[in-house]
Amino acid sequence: MEKLKQTKVRDLLRSKETGNDCLVRGWVRTKRGNKNINFIALNDGSIIHNIQVVVEVADFDEELLKQITTGACIEVTGTLVESPASGQPVEIKAKEIKIFGTADPETYPLQKKGHSMEFLREIAHLRPRTNTFGAVLRIRHAMAFAIHKYFNDNGFYYLHAPIITGSDAEGAGALFRVSILDPKNPPLKPDGSVDFSEDFFGKETKLTVSGQLQAELGALALSLVYTFGPTFRAENSNTPRHLAEFWMIEPEMAFYDIHDNMDLAEDFLKYLIRYALENCMDDLEFLNKMYDNELIDRLRFIVENEFVRLGYTEAIEILKASGQKWEFPVDWGTDLQAEHERYLVEKHFQKPVILTDYPKEIKAFYMKMNDDNKTVRAMDVLFPKIGEIIGGSQREESLERLTNRIHELNIPEKDVWWYLDTRKFGTAPHSGFGLGFERLILFVTGMSNIRDVIPFPRTPKNAEF
Ligand code: 4AD
Ligand code: MG
Repeated sequence: MEKLKQTKVRDLLRSKETGNDCLVRGWVRTKRGNKNINFIALNDGSIIHNIQVVVEVADFDEELLKQITTGACIEVTGTLVESPASGQPVEIKAKEIKIFGTADPETYPLQKKGHSMEFLREIAHLRPRTNTFGAVLRIRHAMAFAIHKYFNDNGFYYLHAPIITGSDAEGAGALFRVSILDPKNPPLKPDGSVDFSEDFFGKETKLTVSGQLQAELGALALSLVYTFGPTFRAENSNTPRHLAEFWMIEPEMAFYDIHDNMDLAEDFLKYLIRYALENCMDDLEFLNKMYDNELIDRLRFIVENEFVRLGYTEAIEILKASGQKWEFPVDWGTDLQAEHERYLVEKHFQKPVILTDYPKEIKAFYMKMNDDNKTVRAMDVLFPKIGEIIGGSQREESLERLTNRIHELNIPEKDVWWYLDTRKFGTAPHSGFGLGFERLILFVTGMSNIRDVIPFPRTPKNAEF
């Protein structure tokens, strides 16, 4: 028999043509049956569903069948036939089976279904083989693809921001250092401090917290750009919404004011969620059934409703008048915590909210100052169950005001001279924002912990896989 080409399980399950021979490869999810007939549920990751392989025991070597256990990797050649069982359109009548790799039932950790998410995090090297992580990883892929498609279709250029930088864009101070100096015996300056001029880059360097400053350089030449890359924050935030290494999408647009920026953010988020509803339904239905019965309704609700737009000052009034007991008290000037953000979104408005015009003290140096000299043209998009999903702003385009601000904050001009140059030469009004990719995936999948929406999470004390 001529060797057949492999067909993906997804294509077989969607195929209407039965009667032909086919070849599939994948991992055994379960094997059940009796002494005459065996049923193997086979999955190759192309779709949440398994294909059923029907095995006439008499036609196969007993030793071979014994080795086909949960987790084993096999190749099956057989005939695609209509399935008499409900819930699956087709199945394979096996003619030949080859084993690539066995999985000892005594030691294979994914023997049974229904492991806790905590346990699965300890076996992050194997968890992609579960239904849940298959669904999450396929949705993650679809969202990454949709992000590039959205920007490409709307005239944006993908700008690759560096991962190693010398600047702290957000001023948060939580940076991972990149160095080749000997930690035990670094070169020292006469004043006793480390002499980074002898380091690889001739200066102190860090892993980037944001590609924004470089995106601004791109926008002031190409008008519409976006970055999409890993970013790093060394803050010790052990929460279900923080990672030390996460991916961020940062569009930056010349000639956009804060209103254009909000319009883009809303349109972009709705596009991505609509894309998931139109392209990931199998996986969403699984997650909706297993984890979060309101997931699909919630996604539809976002697409169908306008986001509320509100000033920070009014938000503080609402929170103070709410009569709620807060873990973190609120007053004008305080940064909003997840509990406040979620109250506004889930209880008060019951819709996504875009908050603008925050006090300058709690926002980064590059945001455009309002005429009141107290607030800046910041915008945060707040989502149900997530809190802040996007942070952005209109940027300060005036060289004078920007220089004043960096002096106020003691940012050395020598660190950001190249950024200031864009305001010196052909400055333009411009805006942008950052979408946390994993926060988006959290929302779209309905998972409750950010560690479960990235293949190999990096969090405090955890970088195993
Ligand atoms: O609000 P952030 O810090 O804004 C910036 O970095 C700006 N430079 C963005 C811009 O204007 N271009 O971060 C943006 C988003 C947050 O809204 C959140 O979704 C996500 O990034 N984020 C995190 N996601 C996971 N883990 C963390 N530790 C995160 N910190 C921020
Ligand atoms: Mg923020």
